[in-house]
Amino acid sequence: MQGFTLTYDDYDPAAEALREALTSTGNGYFCTRGTAEWEDMGSVHYPGTYAHGGYNRETSLFGGSPVLNEDLVNLPNWLVLKLRIGGEAAVRFGSVELLDYRHSYDIRFALVRRDLRFRDRAGRVTTLISRRFVSMAHSHQAGIEWTLIPENWSGHVEIVTALDGRVANRMVARYRELEGRHLDPVSPRTFGHDIIALKVQTRQSNIYVAEAARTRVFLGGRAADVERDLYQMEDYIQQILTFDVEEGEPARLEKMVSLFTSRDNAITEPLTAAGRHVLRYPRFDEALDEHQSAWTELWEGCDIQLPREPRAQLLLRLHVAHVLQVCSRHTARHDAGVPARGLNGEAYRGHVFWDEMYVYPFLNLRLPEITRALLLYRYRRLTEARAAACEAGYRGAMFPWQSGSDGTEETQQVHLNPLSGQWDPDLSHNQRHVNAAIFYNVWRYYQATDDLEFLRDYGAELLLEIARFWASIAHFNPGRQRYEIHGVMGPDEFHERYPGAEEAGLRNNAYTNVMVAWISATVPEVLKLLPASRAAMLRRILEVTDEELRVWEDMSRRMYVPFHDGVISQFEGYADLEELDWDHYRATYPNIQRLDRILKAEGRDPNAFKVSKQADAVMLFFLFGHGDLQMIFKRLGYAYDRDLARRTIEYYDRRTSHGSTLSFVTFAGVLAGLDPPSSWDRFMVALESDVNDVQGGTTKEGIHMGVMSGTLDLLQRSYVGSSIDDEGVLHLQPRLLDRLDGVGLCMRFRGNSLRLSVKGDELTVLVQAEGFRGPLRVCISGDLRELTPGRAYVFQVPGQASSAHPRPSGDGR
Ligand code: BGC
Repeated sequence: MQGFTLTYDDYDPAAEALREALTSTGNGYFCTRGTAEWEDMGSVHYPGTYAHGGYNRETSLFGGSPVLNEDLVNLPNWLVLKLRIGGEAAVRFGSVELLDYRHSYDIRFALVRRDLRFRDRAGRVTTLISRRFVSMAHSHQAGIEWTLIPENWSGHVEIVTALDGRVANRMVARYRELEGRHLDPVSPRTFGHDIIALKVQTRQSNIYVAEAARTRVFLGGRAADVERDLYQMEDYIQQILTFDVEEGEPARLEKMVSLFTSRDNAITEPLTAAGRHVLRYPRFDEALDEHQSAWTELWEGCDIQLPREPRAQLLLRLHVAHVLQVCSRHTARHDAGVPARGLNGEAYRGHVFWDEMYVYPFLNLRLPEITRALLLYRYRRLTEARAAACEAGYRGAMFPWQSGSDGTEETQQVHLNPLSGQWDPDLSHNQRHVNAAIFYNVWRYYQATDDLEFLRDYGAELLLEIARFWASIAHFNPGRQRYEIHGVMGPDEFHERYPGAEEAGLRNNAYTNVMVAWISATVPEVLKLLPASRAAMLRRILEVTDEELRVWEDMSRRMYVPFHDGVISQFEGYADLEELDWDHYRATYPNIQRLDRILKAEGRDPNAFKVSKQADAVMLFFLFGHGDLQMIFKRLGYAYDRDLARRTIEYYDRRTSHGSTLSFVTFAGVLAGLDPPSSWDRFMVALESDVNDVQGGTTKEGIHMGVMSGTLDLLQRSYVGSSIDDEGVLHLQPRLLDRLDGVGLCMRFRGNSLRLSVKGDELTVLVQAEGFRGPLRVCISGDLRELTPGRAYVFQVPGQASSAHPRPSGDGR
């Protein structure tokens, strides 16, 4: 990886699937894996295309029992371009001798490129350069360009250009026994002589998807009138373009593509739209130019400069590019959530989890309109969440652990353990903490934006209904004089129940209970923030009684939190579990991140051990600052000090296998203040986790959105030390100054644009005059200032004498 480029200099079939995921190109509306245009789906390659909201449900007959699953559907493959020379079979990696090869991904523009020189069986040497993008400027547009140079021959070539609807969801080996067919054919069609189009329909959800492709050849710089041969089936359409090429003379080919679905706005139906749009698309170069301008604008607000750490710098930028490929302004126009694995793989079936919590902080401070739209994904599913709560015997709204099209619970009932080949029951839907995450996300969005309108129109209703759910799932234990929550799981998925217990779930997961205490204390504040008439109306519509307010108040003071050995217990009874012989497992298995699978394959029950898949109780220190936690615990009547935090973090650090890479982000965050070198090490693991596929085979099934975005947040929150308090003040507390030296990033905070940079022990905050909304209050080391637009403020970083003095902007700092 160099500069802004991720490069692979060889063709390695074993690594192709991972590379295809990492070189996906997308625009927040749809995304396509970085598969070579000429390769079909098989054991090496997987040309997948996915669009937000493109879900479909299918029933699999599984050992005689019907199992229903919802998948984010792999859409027709629009990439197909195959080269046939002199009437021979199409060129594939396996059919030619590669003389030179480079597969690269230009991070700045999410542009995938392949440069290859090959010798075919007849001894002909050919150079082929392929460039491809999915337009950030026009959400339905994509383009491929081929440059073909016959190096030692002249002759006849045929290029097959196709749209292939004969695809299925077949990527994830663990799911292969389940139904993967999601598309029914509708019709192929042409729009004039050079445009082919295809329409398909999802089998159950009835979403129409149409793609159209305009393929043109340019010889000697001019559009060439080539021979075209059309072939079509109900789920496939192709043209074969035939023309002659001259030795040493480049031939250029462009395939401009459009993709529409029946969920899109401003169309009559997708096939007409796809055909009409592609007809009007400009040439590849012009379209690429527009695409690059759109990315340039995005980078202006989203780049993070980290000049002292070149490796981290590159990976941060790779992560920015991938986050924006899945969540862009285009996303905001659709009914989209954040699939945990982005839009470039099929793991977790494109479902939406609590991972949003790691994704939004980066967007909140740069492109908050995207978070707003993604939060509306939850708001639109409030009715379903209410129904789920009601069915389970609760009040309010209970959002599902895994969410897809309509917000019902999509978590599967059984899960394949690839180590044992066994299908084990999956109880992870008991992770009710996803509801706390949604509450937290709405609140943090509000704090970062001051978007009271959102809170008034949507957010408050979500928050009230979630708080109400927690009040109804909790019960008061008179013996303890505390509220308790039973039958749930925390984020640590290794613990689903007590060892040997019949019933699922655990008692008093500390993370959940403390979040609920915070929620119960926050929800009355939400009502106070709203205009009085709206607060009254909401209370009336939702029938929020004084008694309910009293219960919230009481819960904020009396949620039960378990402790043992001077640390917060992950859940009640954790202290009684067995210690695992970590040394033995480390010595026996090359990778013990998924200890659950290892233990189960050994016939042991992970529930019986003090082992965590990921941060659980430790999440609290990641989500809240010391001051906030002190307040929460004080209100609860529990002693809390920095030492409890340190002890708890250290305790679980020794007992966590990091089977979810989210855990590296969390531990890096909580260790930033306690053990900066160790924090940085974890930060680097998180940064490397997708690009190097540290889990050995997961990234090829889709990048990890939470981790990618989480690393960006780590930099701004844990290292630059930004946090926002309930008064709307931005606090900054830079750490790791040696590594951060020269760091530069932009933020949009409550409508104001800032640029932060650190040089030596000085932090500069440049306040942009343009669009200043004020007031802008920034606090560094207890020094609270109201900043005015058009000026740069230089602060001495804490630890040094704090002095903030304005400098005129444009002084080069
Ligand atoms: C993690 C969850 C996460 C999910 C989707 C699981 O492996 O344990 O916390 O939500 O992956 O990313």
